Amino acid sequence: MSKNRRLAIRSGLTIGDLAARTGLAVSAIRYYEAEGLVHPWRNAGGQRRFERADIRRLSFVMVAQKFGFTIARIREVMQGLPDQRTPTAADWRRISTGFRADLDQQIAALEQMRDKLDGCIGCGCLSMKACTLYNESDQAQHYGAGPRYLMGDPAPEAGAD
Ligand code: FES
Repeated sequence: MSKNRRLAIRSGLTIGDLAARTGLAVSAIRYYEAEGLVHPWRNAGGQRRFERADIRRLSFVMVAQKFGFTIARIREVMQGLPDQRTPTAADWRRISTGFRADLDQQIAALEQMRDKLDGCIGCGCLSMKACTLYNESDQAQHYGAGPRYLMGDPAPEAGAD
């Protein structure tokens, strides 16, 4: 096979092509590259070239981020994809199951939070006994930031020190 034929076969996508196909900014693609989520190669002129499969890789990253996964967790899961060939449907299925347990946990936590909040929306009582928003003297601060009792941390018994 001639060198020109090989180059024609492996022409790849430019970063602009990839940006247009994914809707991502070029700077975002560079960021994902720096984070090790895509691995472009360089053509003879030293320009980045991406595989067509990188469209799906970046789409997967975007969806995973929408679900609240960190870049570190996404990178960990994506390490299950092959580097040397285009991932198959089976490859994608396998790494999707890597997220399933995390998603199930998130869904359960969100349902629990929704059910607790249902009682408070429009209530406004801030009952010391029943309310998951009530946080007298910011006693929940040792759990961390956010509405801790609503997020599932145990509230002290009413009347306890
Ligand atoms: S505001 Fe009434 S239960 Fe929370």
